Amino acid sequence: MSKSNPIIHMGKVKKTFENGTLAVQGMTLDILKGQFISFLGPSGCGKSTVLKMIAGLLRPTSGQILINGKKPNEISSDQNIGYVFQDATLMPWATVEDNVFLPLRLKGITKYQASGDIEKALQKVGLKDFYKSYPRELSGGMKMRVSIARALIMKPKLLLMDEPFAALDEMTRFRLNDDVLSFWENADLTVIFVTHSVFESVYLSNRVIVMAPRPGRVIADISLKDSYPRSEEYRTTSAYTENCRLVSGHLKNSMVKE
Ligand SMILES: Nc1ncnc2c1ncn2[C@@H]1O[C@H](COP(=O)(O)OP(=O)(O)O)[C@@H](O)[C@H]1O
Ligand SMILES: [Mg+2]
Repeated sequence: MSKSNPIIHMGKVKKTFENGTLAVQGMTLDILKGQFISFLGPSGCGKSTVLKMIAGLLRPTSGQILINGKKPNEISSDQNIGYVFQDATLMPWATVEDNVFLPLRLKGITKYQASGDIEKALQKVGLKDFYKSYPRELSGGMKMRVSIARALIMKPKLLLMDEPFAALDEMTRFRLNDDVLSFWENADLTVIFVTHSVFESVYLSNRVIVMAPRPGRVIADISLKDSYPRSEEYRTTSAYTENCRLVSGHLKNSMVKE
């Protein structure tokens, strides 16, 4: 499949919850293979709902979602989708190693068979020496790294990240931003990254989808052409500042009272 094939197609997707909340409406979007795409918008505009529908955790009320041409619930478990949430959702009673092992264990793989993959995944996120630690012994940033290692161990083609760094301090967030970019650049990976930070979306993505609430919908689809690799220096360039201004302008429109 070439880079230009859509890995995800969304056509007129609408989601109404049972209590009548119209969370997402009229969402039509093609996401291309290899894109690093951010969904940006204020709280309540349906970002998590969209991500959960792509992951197959929620079903659209109407409209269509296709992943590589298939419905999310038809995707076999071999077509791995990695999912990282804002809280690291680790098992507190299990070591770092066992937390990262979990998805493989669920597939029936033994720890002995998985040991090489566990080590590699922990190495990738810089936690090789912490494999015997428990989540309570780790900082917030380290817990998030474990959560990312747990997603990467499945070698996903699609990584869904829902405000993964929102609770972290800025320095840690910047470092994890760079790590995620390097995973993306070094793998055949499409990333969908949910954030409410203009700066984070511009730093990371080559495409930003700006959403507005009530009902949740897309109000801008911005492509950002600045080249990768992007590093801390990029944050000081005029191109970055200009992009932030552009994206901010759209985001302000999303806050205007209807
Ligand atoms: N399970 C649910 N039941 C009812 N309403 C929900 C549910 N989940 C989310 N919502 C509502 O749907 C809207 C979009 O929520 P969400 O997708 O979580 O937004 P975001 O992630 O952008 O903050 C909000 O109004 C929220 O209150
Ligand atoms: Mg959310």
